Amino acid sequence: MSDILDLNAAVYPFPPKPACLNDTEKHFYKEKIKRLLKERDAVMVAHYYTDPEIQALAEETGGCVADSLEMARFGSQHSASTLLVAGVRFMGETAKILSPEKTVLMPTLHAECSLDLGCPEQAFSDFCDSHPDRTVVVYANTSAAVKARADWVVTSSIAVELIEHLDSLGEKIIWAPDRHLGNYVRKQTGADILCWQGACIVHDEFKTQALTRMKALYPDAAVLVHPESPQAIVEMADAVGSTSQLIQAARTLPNNRLIVATDRGIFYKMQQACPDKELFAAPTAGEGASCRTCAHCPWMAMNGLKAIADGLEQGGSQHAVEVEESLRLKSLIPLNRMLDFAAGLKLRVQGNA
Ligand code: 13P
Ligand code: SF4
Repeated sequence: MSDILDLNAAVYPFPPKPACLNDTEKHFYKEKIKRLLKERDAVMVAHYYTDPEIQALAEETGGCVADSLEMARFGSQHSASTLLVAGVRFMGETAKILSPEKTVLMPTLHAECSLDLGCPEQAFSDFCDSHPDRTVVVYANTSAAVKARADWVVTSSIAVELIEHLDSLGEKIIWAPDRHLGNYVRKQTGADILCWQGACIVHDEFKTQALTRMKALYPDAAVLVHPESPQAIVEMADAVGSTSQLIQAARTLPNNRLIVATDRGIFYKMQQACPDKELFAAPTAGEGASCRTCAHCPWMAMNGLKAIADGLEQGGSQHAVEVEESLRLKSLIPLNRMLDFAAGLKLRVQGNA
């Protein structure tokens, strides 16, 4: 176990921020991207944590802005022959695993995720080998190699439901890599879960003391929390959920003020969902703070307009995601299980409606 904790303590070097563009440059790259999308028969698949102008462009060009589960689904079902994935590497890899016949391009192949970095294949595989009686469930935020070692892949939007299901079958679980989400799911389900000790550098930084003060300042506000946040923050929440579930909660909660503990990229779609409500970013500063991210993932921020245009124009080994075929086939099994499970859940929800 000590190796795992050491990995979690790692401080990851952040990538340089993309250069700021002036309005003329922004216009130039947006037009170029629109043209290249058509020429390449490509569609944009963007995550809620990318910058607002990237999300707006994805919407304007008929692409999607979504959580990691819906990105996977949209990319595999869309008729375009090229997917431009604006997100982090595991999202591009997932798209390629599901759609090997498509060209999958990313603005950069160096957009990491601290959860993925904190769960290297060999150490994880050894960990699984030492607990052969446990079903291995990994979060989508992992490499293809780690997925290939798993029985199931899961995203935060269906984590509780999947673990409830496995628990009902009497299965004991290995959960990786996010310890906060793992603890949250354990508390919700009571399942026997052994957790890998990874963390998201963005959500790990929310601070309870500063949040308590903010709540005192806005007593009428509801607190929305992504379960990659520390337990003490989750315990202060009025709604806990994946990115899409938080947007839904923002729409349906009666409160006119919302304090939001997740990457601030989500504000673009959340504000669209409830234009009359006031949104506040949960604090990452305050006592004991070492705020490095200020609630915006530095790797998501690499998806700038110029990088997207370069990706579409140049393609090739700098931008095209490739997954070796035998690895792809192995990682496809737990990914398809996830998609089938999610589709079954959707059907159940529709049936109950
Ligand atoms: P969602 O699955 O809620 O989109 O969150 C994934 C994530 O953390 C992306 O960085
Ligand atoms: Fe990974 Fe956190 Fe960035 Fe999401 S926000 S990609 S979990 S580091």
